[in-house]
Amino acid sequence: MNNTVKISQVIQPYNKNLKIEGDKSLSIRWALLASQALGKSKSFNLLKSEDVMSTLKCLKQLGVKVNFNKNFCEIISKGLNGFKYKKKIILDAGNSGTLGRLLMGLLIHAKNKIKIKGDQSLSKRDFLRVTKPLEKFGAIFKTNSGKLPIIINGTKNPKPIYFYENRGSAQCKSSIMLAALNTRGITKIKAKKSRDHTELLFKHLNLPIKIIKKKKFDLIHVKGVKKIKTLNYKIPSDISSSAFFIILTALSKNSQIQIRNVNINPTRTGVLKILKMMGVKVKIKNKKIYKGEEIADLFVKSTTKLKAIKCPTKLNSEAIDEFLLIFLVAAKAKGISYFNKLSELNQKESPRLFWGSKILNKMGIKNIVTKDSIKIYGNPNLKIEKKIVIRNFLKDHRIFMSSVVAALTFGGHWEIFDKTSVDTSFPSFLNKIRELGAEIR
Ligand code: S3P
Repeated sequence: MNNTVKISQVIQPYNKNLKIEGDKSLSIRWALLASQALGKSKSFNLLKSEDVMSTLKCLKQLGVKVNFNKNFCEIISKGLNGFKYKKKIILDAGNSGTLGRLLMGLLIHAKNKIKIKGDQSLSKRDFLRVTKPLEKFGAIFKTNSGKLPIIINGTKNPKPIYFYENRGSAQCKSSIMLAALNTRGITKIKAKKSRDHTELLFKHLNLPIKIIKKKKFDLIHVKGVKKIKTLNYKIPSDISSSAFFIILTALSKNSQIQIRNVNINPTRTGVLKILKMMGVKVKIKNKKIYKGEEIADLFVKSTTKLKAIKCPTKLNSEAIDEFLLIFLVAAKAKGISYFNKLSELNQKESPRLFWGSKILNKMGIKNIVTKDSIKIYGNPNLKIEKKIVIRNFLKDHRIFMSSVVAALTFGGHWEIFDKTSVDTSFPSFLNKIRELGAEIR
């Protein structure tokens, strides 16, 4: 099958109203927490992507009832630690680090040995970052040199732990928080700032959580519980998916878009803060709070003058999924942009810091990359005319979608592989791009 798209024309001016799919982080968290809540939980606008489908499939294998249709998803659960542990279960986390790592936190109680595997990309990623602290609860993990497949041997009596999360990884923090619910006692986490959806959901569910916010990190205390109440949730639109359209619009000529009902949780809006520093104006209107999360409508217009920046490293975790796009803005900005302390970017679905540099090289943008930084020499007059081929064999969805944005804004003749990768996080991506009038073959 030919999974390549071909783009040879920049996008023509547009003015559109877009509805973006549900937030991935919240969709996975809703399903995992609902699987621990006694009774029936219901969600609307759950993201229908492969990462979320893998989550629901794993839960079903663990004996949780799931009804998913066009309009809503219901999860009916036996409550905390109510999984059914059949012998020889193999759970497949697919492409999803969030699923793989958070689910492990819920499995420290597993009665039989459970195997977790993942696709080619996930099998290259580090899991010691969660198995090491999870072992302190008492569970035993047999890893493949710190990677998947991993076999979990649970403990009957998980003990609360102390954990210092120093990467700014919400996946690690959340995995430990979920495991902590299963203990008798208080787990204490010192965590570098990262997205706080799990904390907000715990608070909304009245779970015993205490958070002390310091300048650079949070102290989070989670007490074990016996029961979790059901969770009904309307998932807002994903800011990380919205970012492809925000940056497409910023880099295009004479265009504008409105995106409604986007989750603008301040721990996720690094991209908006960085864009503002670079001269892109994103108007935020109709702000409201929904179950602890901030939601708003976003309005973006094309920007003619883009400024280079020295990106504040404190925004790294907040914008971690958007850097490939931010690098494209830096490519068009006047001056040299600097991005430092970004080694975590190479820990994603593929080594995205190196990929960022590779894409810029192909576009003819000078850049200097190290293992944790990139310096980008912007060129506001760049017009690409040559052929560019992006062969992204690990099928990284964000590399594919960012390359499409580059092709539609900088010109040139692009062949981009693999279009099926969008199913991971944003299945309607190409339809939406076409809706805006883009010519894609
Ligand atoms: C996520 C956290 C981030 C992010 C990922 C989703 C989450 O990963 O890159 O796409 O839902 O917790 P890390 O926590 O490993 O940085």
